[in-house]
Amino acid sequence: MKAAAELIAGAKRIVVFTGAGISADSGIPTFRDPLTSIWAHYDPEKLETANAFRENAALVWGWYLWRRALVAQASPNAAHLAVAQLAQTGREVTVVTQNIDDLHERAGSSGVIHLHGALDLPKCFACHRTPASVSLDHQFVSEGLSVEPPRRPRCNGKLRPGVVWFGEDLPTAVWKRAVQAAQGCDVLLSIGTSGVVFPAAEIPRIALKSGARVVHINTTETPLESPLEMSLVGRAAICVPAIVSPIAMPGEVV
Ligand code: APR
Repeated sequence: MKAAAELIAGAKRIVVFTGAGISADSGIPTFRDPLTSIWAHYDPEKLETANAFRENAALVWGWYLWRRALVAQASPNAAHLAVAQLAQTGREVTVVTQNIDDLHERAGSSGVIHLHGALDLPKCFACHRTPASVSLDHQFVSEGLSVEPPRRPRCNGKLRPGVVWFGEDLPTAVWKRAVQAAQGCDVLLSIGTSGVVFPAAEIPRIALKSGARVVHINTTETPLESPLEMSLVGRAAICVPAIVSPIAMPGEVV
């Protein structure tokens, strides 16, 4: 932990790259952990693709409404808060997340780059426009129930979740911003990701190639490819505050 805390203390530009694991401590199930996996009950190909939506829009829409409800009931945890605190220490901190929840924003982080979109930005399946204002608060679902998606008034197209599905490209401008941040940072913290979904999983490698140090924080050991990397094994809600607090709250013991 001490070595990681010293890396952060000496950095001017930091990228915080996060996956589902940072939200696990807020009670949001991850995707591939056997115990907490959302998909223990579902098959991703049945839920997170445009074809799945064409075949059964109500099931896919209900699945996302269920996830929205889960996130609405959750709170940012100590890891999200420590990331937001890090940005208050005079360092340039860019959060690049694979998560579609808003826990980084609710913890106080701004300018968050959502590589895979966001739960609260539905868009029209037909014309891809995001409706000016759409309230979904009237739509509730318990896990597994189907709910017919609302339609965009102007073109009557069904609303779909504003997320990147399997087989879809990441928005070019979003990807470009994430790559630029990774290429320009001194340190990249990779927190709670299995690193199996591309191109997002390239971000730590892009930082490494540009000479940055990379700290992986995960409940399981991360295989290292370079001497510029280190792996901290533990929960994000414990590890992230431990390496941030020496700078964010000087005098704290790591
Ligand atoms: N603290 C830190 N790491 C954790 C914690 C925790 N409390 N709990 C779980 N983890 C780790 C797991 O060991 C795993 O490596 O977080 C990782 C979660 O991996 P995934 O569930 O695969 O989530 P993620 O890497 O974000 O998935 C990437 O895949 O399904 C798509 O679009 C989806 O954005 C998602 C992408």
